[in-house]
Amino acid sequence: MLDDKFRDLHLSNSAKILEKPPGPRSREMLQKQDHAESAAVSYPKAIPVAFAEGKGATLKDVDGNIYIDFFAGAGVLNVGHCNPEVVEAAKEQMDKLTHALDFPTPIRMELVDEVLSVLPTRLKNIAKLLFVAPTGSDAVESAMKLAKFNTGRIGMISFEGAYHGMTAGAITLTANKALKQSLMPMIPEVHFLPYAYCYRCPFGREYSECGLECARYLEHVLEDPKSGVVDPAAIIIEAVQGEGGSLPAPDEFLKEVKRISREYCVPLIVDEIQAGMSRTGKMWAYQHSGIIPDIMTISKGIGGGLPLSVLVFDEKLDTWEKGAHVGTFRGNVVALAAGVATLRFIKKHKLWNHAKRLGEDVFFPYLEEIQEESRFIGDTRGKGLMIGVEFVKDKKSKQPWTEFAKEIRKACYQRGLIVEIGGHFSNVVRFMPPLVLTKELAEAGLEIFADSVREVENANKDAEFPTLTSQLS
Ligand SMILES: Cc1ncc(COP(=O)(O)O)c(C=O)c1O
Repeated sequence: MLDDKFRDLHLSNSAKILEKPPGPRSREMLQKQDHAESAAVSYPKAIPVAFAEGKGATLKDVDGNIYIDFFAGAGVLNVGHCNPEVVEAAKEQMDKLTHALDFPTPIRMELVDEVLSVLPTRLKNIAKLLFVAPTGSDAVESAMKLAKFNTGRIGMISFEGAYHGMTAGAITLTANKALKQSLMPMIPEVHFLPYAYCYRCPFGREYSECGLECARYLEHVLEDPKSGVVDPAAIIIEAVQGEGGSLPAPDEFLKEVKRISREYCVPLIVDEIQAGMSRTGKMWAYQHSGIIPDIMTISKGIGGGLPLSVLVFDEKLDTWEKGAHVGTFRGNVVALAAGVATLRFIKKHKLWNHAKRLGEDVFFPYLEEIQEESRFIGDTRGKGLMIGVEFVKDKKSKQPWTEFAKEIRKACYQRGLIVEIGGHFSNVVRFMPPLVLTKELAEAGLEIFADSVREVENANKDAEFPTLTSQLS
């Protein structure tokens, strides 16, 4: 039983709240941070806490409260906080060599082998790697640069609900209007097409009788000389959208996107930064559909908590020259060592299987029960341990209920469970725990979630929602 192997990785087998968070030390640090750091700081505004320690799927705050972590540092800690094998590898490397630009080092060559070993054979045989660290946005920037360099085109196709990062290029590929409204255009000719968000199909259709209208629309845009969309350098897609609300695209949609990209000679970039590294029950989320990307971005989970990102692409695209994409910290040696230990840990424990099993056997059955009981859960979906629960004001109209999701996040945190929200309307509570989560911790976390739903639902039992007509009158 895998659970047994993971049992000792955590601080505790349940949440332990000693006093209602934020406690006094947290409050003090939050105040100091607020005073000294930029208004752009984000997560503590929603979850006001200062953390002192993290182990496995648990976190301890500076006041001694222990939380179950269903957020994993935005999907970074797939092997858990302070995974002992990763920590040991990083420490060992710290004593030997910490920085070597892009010179070969023994650990760098080991990571090359490890990354190749987890690629599907068809990609492994033709793959070129580029270490593009530190962060995920860097991988996205380099993917776009590579595609533009090879095609000589400037345009990009992205999808509604997409999140690809915060640097100039990556934010332009990100769909969140509020984040970029006053910044645009950072790069020109980025077009957003409908993703297969079947719960809210923009075409008003039902999967699977829809004829994959979203894929048809992509093809139409590429085919029609007057669609207004210039021939793109690449199509970029998440196989399971993360910030878009834990949305797994149907396999058939991804297969169609791949076919269309091939037919119209547009390289396909699959962004695996959040959904990759075993989170969805396979090493890479696109593997569920059997497609092979031309370019893929990897980051978050691969560093085991240290900043590392990697670009993998078809060698045919490796047409650029020496120095075309250099950078001082591209491939930090300590992060490379952490990456080797992380991949070995994942392979040794076949972590993708654990994620699939916990998702299918524990999370989904439990969440389906809560959904049935609740008036306000419209949709529960996901793959492996990348799960979203969408809150609506009523199940028929599907009117999104953002405030409700925010209240759930708060109620969970105060009971000792860290969850984040996402989705087009920020009305989706997202579960993205470390993949070393035990069944016991999963059930304890789900119980906290269920209690929080009941509490918030009870507080809102008399809520009335004006219809659009009454709001207008
Ligand atoms: C799919 C995806 N791509 C890119 C990024 C950007 O990564 P980073 O925040 O490390 O720059 C993220 C971050 O959440 C992501 O989820």
